[in-house]
Amino acid sequence: MASLKQKYGPVLWLKLGTSSNIMVVQTAQAAAELFKNHDTSFANRAIGDANLPHNYPQGSPALAPYGPFWRFLRRICTVEMFVHKKITETVPVRRTCVDNMLKWIEKAANSAEKGGGIEVTRYVFLASFNMLGNLILSKDLADPESEEASEFFNAMKGIMEWSGIPNVSDIFPFLRKFDLQNLRKKMTRDMGKAMEIVSIFLKERKEERKKGEDKGKDFLDVLLEFEGNGKDEPDKLSEHQMKVFILEMFLAGSETTSSSVEWALTELLRHPEAMDKVKREISEVVGPNRKFEESDIDNLPYMQAVIKESLRLHPPLPFLIPRETVQDTKFMGYDIPKGTRVLVNTWAIGRDPECWEDPMSFKPERFLGSKLDVKGQHYELIPFGAGRRICVGLPLGHRMMHFALGSLLHEFEWELPDCVSPKSINMDESMGTTARKALSLKVIPKRA
Ligand code: HEM
Repeated sequence: MASLKQKYGPVLWLKLGTSSNIMVVQTAQAAAELFKNHDTSFANRAIGDANLPHNYPQGSPALAPYGPFWRFLRRICTVEMFVHKKITETVPVRRTCVDNMLKWIEKAANSAEKGGGIEVTRYVFLASFNMLGNLILSKDLADPESEEASEFFNAMKGIMEWSGIPNVSDIFPFLRKFDLQNLRKKMTRDMGKAMEIVSIFLKERKEERKKGEDKGKDFLDVLLEFEGNGKDEPDKLSEHQMKVFILEMFLAGSETTSSSVEWALTELLRHPEAMDKVKREISEVVGPNRKFEESDIDNLPYMQAVIKESLRLHPPLPFLIPRETVQDTKFMGYDIPKGTRVLVNTWAIGRDPECWEDPMSFKPERFLGSKLDVKGQHYELIPFGAGRRICVGLPLGHRMMHFALGSLLHEFEWELPDCVSPKSINMDESMGTTARKALSLKVIPKRA
């Protein structure tokens, strides 16, 4: 799609199937125009058929239509969950999850075949999932050592898989009733299971609260206590809305984080000079006698640059989360009808030679001494999106990513398996919920 920019310019118009109008924003300049001058007109979400079971969109911050209810959900996130103070208060929770991750990795490395390597992302994913589990519900919900990992974890893996598969029902809506790929059916099953389990968590918590048991305040307590104004937003969240909200935090936060860490580690293994630099920086700042801590992140400009450079080349959501036009809109000379699906091609923007010198090369140095960041103000680098619907979990995702990568680099030397060289690492992408590595990275961790 990136090469189409050369031919058709900054905005591409696609007509797929019988009724899908799709607009693709291909340049930073067009993205800036969209987010700065037309953000509200493009602020709805396009909802795929597989996301409809169990009334999921009603209660989902990511899929709710732009309006008072979405604002209400967003306020809960920004005021109560992802503010700096709350994120800092929960440092110990993430510390424990990262310590567990490091233990699992060491154990897996000890039992791996000599010269073989382990799939490190699996452990980063489990750690991200547990970080969210502990922040939201004060529970570990994933364990690589239990054969049949928890039912909740498996159901959530299913939901992520089904929502990432392109669905013919979205291109030809008249085929919806046949559900040809069985995606709605599988989603109904797995989402039903996940919701059932969250219902049990909710019930348990309500009982604990009735008995006055106080175990500290997590996100679930925030949801139970939050009050709206009762006019254009509800007084309280319904049980259904709470369940969806909880599922969404796992869906939005776990694979995005682990996939970002996997790409960054892969790029470092392909570029040994960058690996040396980042390891040297970490060893100067952290030293050999203590663990890598979240508070170290601000003192590691090169590691931050590595993550930005990796997100530039490998944004986990290459088209953000599809938007939809709220109303008929005039945009850059085009008449865009209400209901048009809008994709912002952040993958192509990150590789655009008009924005980036030598765009295909991995050069973290380009960010040193530069003010360019990923927080939605610089439209050439928007892996978290921009505008009103920018990733609401950005402050948490950003921390988790840096903390996990920094800890992996501090604790281990990373080597490639026999028969793989930096140049031969497979870099294919596979599109699911996120643009993951098609072949999971296999690496050999050795104690640093
Ligand atoms: C590396 C980590 C992450 C990346 C790259 C990422 C990326 C994104 C992107 C691209 C969007 C769409 C933005 C847009 O349309 O402009 C988004 C939305 C969202 N993200 Fe994230 N995300 C990450 C982590 C998280 C975490 C940890 C959470 C919460 C636990 C989270 C929750 C959400 C939610 C709820 C939305 C929907 C916001 C809305 O529609 O108002 N994300 N994210």
